[in-house]
Amino acid sequence: MSLVSAKEMLQKAKAGKYAVGQFNINNLEWTKAVLLTAQECSSPVILGVSEGAGKYMCGYNTVVGMVKGMMETLGITVPVALHLDHGSYEGAMKCIEAGFSSVMFDGSHYPIDENIEKTKEIIRIAGEKGISVEAEVGSIGGEEDGVVGGGEVADPDECKQIADLGVDMLAAGIGNIHGVYPENWQGLNFDVLAQIQEKTGTMPLVLHGGTGIPEEMVKKAITLGVSKVNVNTECQLSFAAATRQYIEEGKDKQGKGFDPRKLLAPGTEAIKATVKEKMELFGSVGKA
Ligand code: 13P
Repeated sequence: MSLVSAKEMLQKAKAGKYAVGQFNINNLEWTKAVLLTAQECSSPVILGVSEGAGKYMCGYNTVVGMVKGMMETLGITVPVALHLDHGSYEGAMKCIEAGFSSVMFDGSHYPIDENIEKTKEIIRIAGEKGISVEAEVGSIGGEEDGVVGGGEVADPDECKQIADLGVDMLAAGIGNIHGVYPENWQGLNFDVLAQIQEKTGTMPLVLHGGTGIPEEMVKKAITLGVSKVNVNTECQLSFAAATRQYIEEGKDKQGKGFDPRKLLAPGTEAIKATVKEKMELFGSVGKA
């Protein structure tokens, strides 16, 4: 199956009251782990690529080639969207050109009028190619790829303004942040989420910063209209812990344990386990 836009899978998720996971990819092992798990779980999936990760993987054309090649060789038949995460205007244009099937334009740091103008332009260009668009209102807190967000709570009226432009999914800050949550975190603001959902109706809402949000909060957010949950740090932590264990147990020094195909295998399995756990929590298993 070739790459698909995220539009249809998210509309189905919204109607079915579950969420599709966006798992950020960083390299070949990450991509393989996420694709294989989605196939095993018969779940739709969104592969997220930040601009920094795109650069790390040698550019968007390389990413598109790797993902498409892998899907063919691994026989992936579940719906897969390849999505730019927190894209700049220029980054979104490059991904549209390179063959991504979905882009996020993060104009949350612009004044709302400028966010609207730029989002409109991206929707027009992406729309011509059937590429889905995510916009953001109220920047997500924390640090991701050097981009530090202040952790705002979105204004529901501004959310409606952006939703009405014709985006396919809307990320709105509701107290969520990227990375590990601090001890004194106040939790998600469900009152604001409910107001946003009321104003934006059937628009699939996106919850960024999926790492470390307590399960009950994630489930509640899904009942209030969240149809896409983004996870990045948690896969990185799982990968690092499993790789650390392998080395600390001296396995790289046994036989050919230093072979990268062996050395990276426990980390890859750990990513798969985390992705499966999230798909079960989000309710997307069996929904492909
Ligand atoms: P985490 O790294 O906190 O899981 O957030 C991921 C994310 O929101 C990507 O956009």
